[in-house]
Amino acid sequence: MNNWAQISLLLFICAILKAQSARTTRKDDTSVGRRKAQAESIKYCLFKGPSPNKEICCFTPNKAVTLETCGFNTSHPLVAIVHGWTLDGMYESWIWKMAAALKVRRKNINVLVIDWLTLAHQHYPIAVKNTRIVGQEIANLLDWLEEFFGFPKGKVHLIGYSLGAHVSGFAGNYITGTNRIGRITGLDPAGPLFEGMSSTERLSPDDANFVDAVHTFTQEHIGLSVGINQPVAHYDFYPNGGTIQPGCHLKHMYSHIAQYGILGITETVKCAHERSVHLFIDSLLNEDKQIVGYWCNDLSTFNKGTCLSCRKNRCNTLGYNIKKVRTQRSKKMYFKTRANMPYKVYHYQFKIRFINHMEHNILEPSLTVSLFGTEGDAENLPIKLVESITTNKTYSFLIHTDVNIGDLMLLKFKWENPVAWTNLWKTVQTYFQWGQNHLNPELIVRKIRIKAGETQHKVTFCPSNIDMHLQPAQEKKFVRCVSDRSRKRHRRISI
Ligand SMILES: *[C@@H]1O[C@H](CO)[C@@H](O)[C@H](O)[C@H]1NC(C)=O
Ligand SMILES: *[C@@H]1O[C@H](CO)[C@@H](O)[C@H](O)[C@H]1NC(C)=O
Repeated sequence: MNNWAQISLLLFICAILKAQSARTTRKDDTSVGRRKAQAESIKYCLFKGPSPNKEICCFTPNKAVTLETCGFNTSHPLVAIVHGWTLDGMYESWIWKMAAALKVRRKNINVLVIDWLTLAHQHYPIAVKNTRIVGQEIANLLDWLEEFFGFPKGKVHLIGYSLGAHVSGFAGNYITGTNRIGRITGLDPAGPLFEGMSSTERLSPDDANFVDAVHTFTQEHIGLSVGINQPVAHYDFYPNGGTIQPGCHLKHMYSHIAQYGILGITETVKCAHERSVHLFIDSLLNEDKQIVGYWCNDLSTFNKGTCLSCRKNRCNTLGYNIKKVRTQRSKKMYFKTRANMPYKVYHYQFKIRFINHMEHNILEPSLTVSLFGTEGDAENLPIKLVESITTNKTYSFLIHTDVNIGDLMLLKFKWENPVAWTNLWKTVQTYFQWGQNHLNPELIVRKIRIKAGETQHKVTFCPSNIDMHLQPAQEKKFVRCVSDRSRKRHRRISI
């Protein structure tokens, strides 16, 4: 991460720590009256629709008539949105985008917005303490819905952002009876004071029948990160590795500061943190662009391209349309995204065996690849090799494209070489009069195996002509191997 983003994060964390020391000077007030006032400060409003003016209808728990007046329909599922910590005591605009997107996706749905702004507009550690209180109140509400209306908890989906994710976890923890909440989605669950805690002290897989989480801002500083880093769900999604998100880096911070003044620093923190929310909204709005995450141990393994498998629930859909498979252990899911909605990209694993012409020589060429498909092209994508190229070794790496190029038909490999370096090389050659070609750096590529994550198709590419040598500043074309095509034809015949 760049310096400015680091500083902004540091400031953010300092604010949290300062708040933490302020806490010790406060007296705990747990009187019954205060507890009641806290419970009453929470508001429950059904979202009726985005027009004409964010139409909401608020009801009072335990007063059935108020809920009926608001048009709660017990035959429809209930999705509740739970916000997080707030610095200004106001709703963030994503709340209404999320509510509206849910309504767009499903007509027959009760969308509930839970307002605990008063309890969230506190020093961070106090807001953290309040998450239990709010969780308890939501649990009471769901118990009442079940007892009074026969509304099953299994039809409840809580979507909690930041601290709201842990509020939802506590709600799942505190409900009575044997039926669990259907689903909890944690959107970048808050990290400070939750990271490393036992499963009863934070959102965890046993808080609902199915729990999913999206981690978008887990960049660590002095042992703290804004979003929790550890898995807390059945499926934990880590877009772009989960530390920071594309479009949330330094250059955007300047524009944030220009736009919001010093508050721009918070905007930068919010950018990656809130990305979890927008990824979820994306899953509701862009049904034809559903993002798939792939089970993987960590980001560096994912970057090798070796995790693009969908066998045995190794991949799953991010967001609303996730396949609700309960897993024994949390599955960490990885994928890349664009910087804007729709966030979906297309992943490919490339497997290449390079034969380095000069023995005992290690090359670090900067290679790019262009992909040409039936639906579109993606040109000059840089290849990031983790290791330098040595003789006779197979390299696997990940390539991703912003656009759907359809079936891959043609590849162009280019060894991008700084002109100066090539010239220097030529000079050296002329000077020493070696003049023999084997002194040129070159790579031999016979076959390229490619697996597309999104389609799970595998294809093998061969050089378009007999010359397999790839040299600096040269471009080489690869087409589908003939044997590959004929094998496919055979398969078709056998069907
Ligand atoms: C609830 O929705 C169903 C259809 O999904 C409808 O038939 C029924 O009338 C609704 N109930 C109320 C109270 O609006
Ligand atoms: C690499 O493989 C080629 C052909 O397969 C072989 O001729 C060459 O000796 C190998 N080089 C090394 C260093 O193993």
